[in-house]
Amino acid sequence: MQETAWQVSLVLMLMITFGVIFVAINSHKREEEYGPLVKRAYGFRTKLFWVVALVFLPAMIYNLMDLPYDVSRAATAGGPPQVINVTAHMWYWEMDRDQVDAGQPVEVHITSADVNHGFGIYDKDMHLVAQAQAMPGYTNVIRHTFKEEGTYKVLCMEYCGVAHHNMMTEIKVGNL
Ligand code: CUA
Repeated sequence: MQETAWQVSLVLMLMITFGVIFVAINSHKREEEYGPLVKRAYGFRTKLFWVVALVFLPAMIYNLMDLPYDVSRAATAGGPPQVINVTAHMWYWEMDRDQVDAGQPVEVHITSADVNHGFGIYDKDMHLVAQAQAMPGYTNVIRHTFKEEGTYKVLCMEYCGVAHHNMMTEIKVGNL
């Protein structure tokens, strides 16, 4: 579907390009046949066409280079994501892995076994790096690439009962 759209756009672009060239050549011919006044008018028209062509064609080509929209490119950039599956419980985090590599995309799939929790990842300075809600019956996804190695803290960001403050775990980034 996107392939077809691209081909149609390409054909249209070629038609416009040839149209512009044809008009430019023709108006040049007529310049020699008619008087100087007409010549100036056609000359101006030729210039206008070339300005339009030079401004819009690169823009069109530039836009088309992003077709098909880089969903696939974004998804594969830096290799397949490192997936961490997280289930929140009162009052702990269940994670199927807690080590990932730096510089490679990470996808955290987060759900809850009971009530709403908040999955928040903090760096060593306790700055929030990424977060998503942990909700029963839903899986929310965080996409993040850790640039720095180290141990990142995970805290619960939504009050979920008496031991809310105990919901802490860690994600180790790099070869630790
Ligand atoms: Cu879980 Cu607060």
